[in-house]
Amino acid sequence: MVSYKELGLVNTREMFAKAVKGGYAIPAFNFNNMEQLQAIVMASAETKSPVILQVSKGARNYANQTLLRYMAEGAVEYAKELGWEHPQIVLHLDHGDSFELCKSCVDMGFSSVMIDGSSLPYDENVALTKKVVDYAHQFDVTVEGELGVLAGVEDEVSSEQSHYTKPEEVVDFTSKTGVDSLAISIGTSHGAYKFKPEQCTRDPKTGRLVPPPLAFDVLKGVEEKLPGFPIVLHGSSSVPQEYVDTINKFGGKLPDAVGIPEDQLRKAAKSAVCKINIDSDSRLAMTAAVRKVFAEHPEQFDPRKYLGPARDEMKKLYEHKIKEVLGSEGKAE
Ligand code: G3H
Ligand code: 13P
Ligand code: ZN
Repeated sequence: MVSYKELGLVNTREMFAKAVKGGYAIPAFNFNNMEQLQAIVMASAETKSPVILQVSKGARNYANQTLLRYMAEGAVEYAKELGWEHPQIVLHLDHGDSFELCKSCVDMGFSSVMIDGSSLPYDENVALTKKVVDYAHQFDVTVEGELGVLAGVEDEVSSEQSHYTKPEEVVDFTSKTGVDSLAISIGTSHGAYKFKPEQCTRDPKTGRLVPPPLAFDVLKGVEEKLPGFPIVLHGSSSVPQEYVDTINKFGGKLPDAVGIPEDQLRKAAKSAVCKINIDSDSRLAMTAAVRKVFAEHPEQFDPRKYLGPARDEMKKLYEHKIKEVLGSEGKAE
């Protein structure tokens, strides 16, 4: 058993309370390799933003859970080295799908876990989430639950349609389970194709797809039922079109990739939404930078020559999110 406290990590409780009160959101960036982690730590340390390092089950299998834990410990030390005296860094399991997986992460030094029972019948979601909360809280590890189903990554286990969270269920769910935060469905989804072209309009000037707005009425309904309770948004990448263009220009194939417009996320961050999940944008930044180097310098074969520019681009992206979208800059001085 390794306690996250020994690693210098923190749980989400205090940072969420401050974020809800302060009208900003904490970035939750997924990582599964060193360059992503370096870019996240550099961006957070420079902006003094609290940050959630997010590890999916797939990332854990890809990178090895022991290595990831030491990487998170290293992230805290690296942040200090960069001049961030009191780093506020969370190591969080993203989309945990079983009690055993969540328990293993708690036991391995994670400071926060998500149990995603959103595809289960309501009562089973409650029972599984409560079981995880009861275990995690013994070690002061915070827990995120989910109600409502997003389209995209959760399709395989549910349906093709996005099912918004039902505000009338949230009080019952949070009080029965004891979760510390709640992920809700208001029209976001995972990946680089968040909306089908037929769900969008087209900007006549640019020809770009313009996505439909998020269901802010559902978010408002949830906030009214649970005033001040920390709400989480998954699937919140914006799919920057300059990355999509670069990828497509240099041999990629991402036609009509589209994300959540930044103004929608800014609006959400000012509400009870206090954690915003971003993974795809980092993947796009990395892929765009690597494709560009490969296309322009086919003679290169030193990974540092293409992963270095990828890291720089991701750092730029993370800083932009912190400063211009989520509003978390300077909140962990
Ligand atoms: O929610 C999904 C995250 O983007 C993680 O994706 O399961 O491919 O690591 P992954
Ligand atoms: P994106 O695919 O929009 O980056 O969402 C990531 C996410 O929600 C991770 O849980
Ligand atoms: Zn997610």
